[in-house]
Amino acid sequence: MSNKNQFGTKIGLIAATVGSAVGLGNVWRFPILAQSNGGAAFLLVYVACVFILGIPVMMAEFSLGRGGGSDAVGSFQNITPGKKWWMAGAIGILASYIILSYYMVVAGWTLEYTWQSITGDLYTPITEGGAMNNAQFTSKMNEYIVNDYNPLIFTFLMIIANFAILLGGVKRGIERLSNILMPMLFVLLIIFAGVSLSLPKAEDGLSFFLNPDFSKVDATVVVNAMGQAFFSLSLGMGILITYSSYYPKNTILSRTAVTVSMLDMTVAIMMGIIIFPAVTSFGLTGESLEGASLVFITLPEVFAQMAGGQIWSILFFFFLMVAALTSTISIAEVSIAFMQDHFKMSRVKACVTVLAPLFILSSLCSLSQGSLGSMKIFGFTLFDLFDQVATNIMLPIASILVCIYMGWIAPKTFFKNQLSNNGTVRSRVFHIVLFIVRFIAPVLIASILIAYFVK
Ligand code: PFF
Repeated sequence: MSNKNQFGTKIGLIAATVGSAVGLGNVWRFPILAQSNGGAAFLLVYVACVFILGIPVMMAEFSLGRGGGSDAVGSFQNITPGKKWWMAGAIGILASYIILSYYMVVAGWTLEYTWQSITGDLYTPITEGGAMNNAQFTSKMNEYIVNDYNPLIFTFLMIIANFAILLGGVKRGIERLSNILMPMLFVLLIIFAGVSLSLPKAEDGLSFFLNPDFSKVDATVVVNAMGQAFFSLSLGMGILITYSSYYPKNTILSRTAVTVSMLDMTVAIMMGIIIFPAVTSFGLTGESLEGASLVFITLPEVFAQMAGGQIWSILFFFFLMVAALTSTISIAEVSIAFMQDHFKMSRVKACVTVLAPLFILSSLCSLSQGSLGSMKIFGFTLFDLFDQVATNIMLPIASILVCIYMGWIAPKTFFKNQLSNNGTVRSRVFHIVLFIVRFIAPVLIASILIAYFVK
């Protein structure tokens, strides 16, 4: 069951792993959470969560994957044959697939917005000749999301793009794409930060995002920050276990975990620095800053008012599409690796088996934003139900199980050997990491779960 697939270079494996981590979570989820949870105060709690929880749990997942040398289920089976702990991996795989089916829809919107920015249609006024007012603009943008057919076409295109890349395999598909796209993404990020900070009322936006309001920091804020750290770092879904099974033996796992987490955090913080000055400079606040509307309604409105707005719009949504694409391929790879390892499928067959059902599942998620919107399951649309169940319930459960497994169940020397590359590199932090993985992380992650149900 061993995996012959491997990343070719150190840069390549970091680019691919950062590509997975940096996604829609950084762009729309983080700034909103920060803003509504006390600004800079949330940022501090978030940074603490990344250091105290995120990095050690990431090291645990990396060790599990590289040491187990297989997919998210097979790695458990290789380390502790005959035990049922592979079920933790199975929960992760299932969660990742549920997430993939709606994440692909949002990825589709990013492609749709890139395309509509290129054609200029996004900014063509609906009223003959005149400029649109706020409500008209919102309803025009909503058409791109809730309309039944347009988003579907772009979601399908994203599924096909995923297929084309994933077919190329780990080195020629995932790694090569990440090597090109990730540096591009960071360059775009820097350009955007420059543009945004030079806008007339940039300072107001910055203080809106970065003004620390410690009175808002309570248990909910801490739980939100933890949840966001897990979401953003792609933890608990088998993604990092799968990717690290492609890491060579000499990769220093602790250093890789720190690098990936720092880069992911940098993107999240820069996103806040980009979005809020842009939005407040054009006098948009309040409701327009909530959820999906920030990126898919409010920002286009900002672009519409900016000099050279169309170019910025093309670049921004292209940036977002890249971030989403490198994340969807990592989420899909979890199931593809599983199919290849367990059912001995060829790469092509595994890619088809994993991606083809998305044409239906993602369509249903997409339509649940439109004409199927009234069909509620437990009071949620299908899109929201998938999000709630996978990210708020399955993801924390899988993460707790991974921690218990690496802290208590896997052979005693296993974790240490992985972090020290069998004693060839010094791992000074091992005892701290082990302590966190054994005691702190399971308890803190459990509080995310409890908070969700108590709410
Ligand atoms: N880490 C990526 C992001 O922040 O968008 C990918 C991802 C991870 C998506 C976890 C969804 C998720 F639940």
